[in-house]
Amino acid sequence: MHYSSLFVIVLVASIIGLCASVKQKKVNLAPDKTARLVQHAIDCVAATGVSPDVLMQFRQGHVGSDDKSQQFVHCLLKRLSLVSKDGHGKTQRVLDLYPDSVDKEGIKKAFDECNKLNGSTPTETSFKVFVCFHKTSPVVIGL
Ligand SMILES: *[C@@H]1O[C@H](CO)[C@@H](O)[C@H](O)[C@H]1NC(C)=O
Repeated sequence: MHYSSLFVIVLVASIIGLCASVKQKKVNLAPDKTARLVQHAIDCVAATGVSPDVLMQFRQGHVGSDDKSQQFVHCLLKRLSLVSKDGHGKTQRVLDLYPDSVDKEGIKKAFDECNKLNGSTPTETSFKVFVCFHKTSPVVIGL
């Protein structure tokens, strides 16, 4: 009795753990792209005056939604030419970040959905799109 309930708990926990890890696949950026991204990220911390903590948060995929964090994300996406003037993403440029080996159809689907979101400013729009995409994309980029 005790053994079997323990077994069920362990089983459920490992299934949950497994789902969390297979739901989003992680791929690494090509080294030259990583270097470019890091340089832009540092420049954007300076340009927006956000706390440098944002870099670590960004790496872990949890960026705050305060004004400066939003400006940081927008700054970075803009410098990487991933968003247009109005704050919406450039789908093809986003897809180009990923290696050919991943499910680009799935990524495109998730991105197109998120890219419909609108904010009241370009900064807010790109931030919303980014947060949505980070949550729903089948593949996320790790650093
Ligand atoms: C965002 O704005 C565009 C253009 O005005 C509109 O077509 C679209 O439906 C809006 N999206 C949402 C989710 O409201």
